[in-house]
Amino acid sequence: MDFKIKTGNLANHKTPCLVLGVFERHKLTGPAEAMDKASGGRISELLKKGDLEGEAGQTLMLYELPGLAAERVLLVGRGKRKELTRAVARKTLESAVVALQQTHCTQATFALQDPLPSDADLYAAVRDTVITAEDKVYRYSQTRNDEKAPKKPLRRIELWLSGKQDKASAELSIRHASAMAAGIGLAKELSNLPGNICTPTYLAETAEQLGRDFKALKVEVLEEDRMAELGMGALLSVSRGSRQPAKLIVMHYTGGKSNAKPLVLVGKGLTFDAGGISLKPAAEMDEMKYDMCGGASVLGAVLAACELELPINMIGVVPTSENLPDGAANKPGDIVTSMSGQTIEILNTDAEGRLILCDALTYCERFDPAAVIDLATLTGACVVALGKHPAGLLTSDDKLAEEIIAAGESAADRVWRLPLWEDYQSQLESNFADIANVGGRDGGAITAACFLSRFTKQYRWAHLDIAGIASLSGKEKGATGRPVALLTQLLLERSGALN
Ligand code: BES
Ligand code: MN
Ligand code: ZN
Repeated sequence: MDFKIKTGNLANHKTPCLVLGVFERHKLTGPAEAMDKASGGRISELLKKGDLEGEAGQTLMLYELPGLAAERVLLVGRGKRKELTRAVARKTLESAVVALQQTHCTQATFALQDPLPSDADLYAAVRDTVITAEDKVYRYSQTRNDEKAPKKPLRRIELWLSGKQDKASAELSIRHASAMAAGIGLAKELSNLPGNICTPTYLAETAEQLGRDFKALKVEVLEEDRMAELGMGALLSVSRGSRQPAKLIVMHYTGGKSNAKPLVLVGKGLTFDAGGISLKPAAEMDEMKYDMCGGASVLGAVLAACELELPINMIGVVPTSENLPDGAANKPGDIVTSMSGQTIEILNTDAEGRLILCDALTYCERFDPAAVIDLATLTGACVVALGKHPAGLLTSDDKLAEEIIAAGESAADRVWRLPLWEDYQSQLESNFADIANVGGRDGGAITAACFLSRFTKQYRWAHLDIAGIASLSGKEKGATGRPVALLTQLLLERSGALN
């Protein structure tokens, strides 16, 4: 979609639809108040009929208002004036976009930036608008005939600002948000594709295409024979049970000085996780196609960095494989040797994410990273602990934790920290290997991170467990593209683009 900043006389502005906000009890402020005046009080007169109280998310379409050049006016409820937060504003935006999709408007002008939510400046509010609108118009279509798709989809949104507002900051915001939205869109599309299309090879080819699209990006794909030479016994043990060869995707984005240490993002790329011999129950197993969402988010963040030409060095690493039961698959009790030299007793073949990640994390040592952040749909236990709103953040690096938490807040893509204390490490003891791949029922998200911590001693590291946030279930089943927004925010901040 196209987004454009508009200023000037709003009453004379020609548009298929002008979107105005109404607070509870019909309170009109800012541009809504001005348009009411311009229409000779018509808006407040119509509101008196009581069809729209102003509750957040309510909408009412009006036609042919006198005194306005707009063909339609869409009123959206914004809740109580004093309670307008970013979260409420996003909800109202969503319903505005849904209402517009039911019309033949391919364009609309939003006059919703005055007043701003109490917890947002103009930059944040504009970014939320772009990302929310793009998120709402996204429809998965690759493998179906999408009959419910709007006949005339929304193509362009103008954001009207009063003359006093900072146009430059709003334009910068559109630029940043559009790149984030492209990254989120890529992550969602890859994640929604079924496991028989989005295989490790498909992910690798997608990354290679990105490498051809952007000069600053060099993509390498390590094949299984190379991984064997490197001693990646843990990663290869997972893919041995699958007919699809594993890949290790390495994307080098160089936008900064050649000697600047890279930020490395590592994403779990299980294109399907059946559990292996420790087979998962059948119910909702289809959702395990989403076990590559971490990897997809890394590709999304790389795309955003490329589009913004950020002056930073970053490396995206995606170990990708399937986890299936097969005669060659891992068996409970098997012991494998990781690239780090540590041996691992595989007590549960369904704890495969950490097996492919540990070798990828050891591989990262060669990049001399500024920091490594891994993202993985790693444990159901994280969903039990935190629900589906924040990602779980685990790290023993307080400064890195602060940075990630703040980026999550700014990007409305939040995380919540869980402890990564030494106390939990003993749950991973094995009588037969250096470490067991599971630590029992208690604190499952934490012991999973403890496992990874054994392979990340050479650099600053944080882990995001995104099992609860990467996809939605039920009627809304689909990928969210999270946490691409958080990662892009982090990249924007590290590259100084927000100063
Ligand atoms: N991919 C799953 C985790 C998962 C569960 C993601 C639910 C999204 C929703 C992971 O590979 C897994 O199976 N983890 C096991 C770990 C256990 C065997 C220690 C789990 O969470 O049950
Ligand atoms: Mn699993
Ligand atoms: Zn998994």
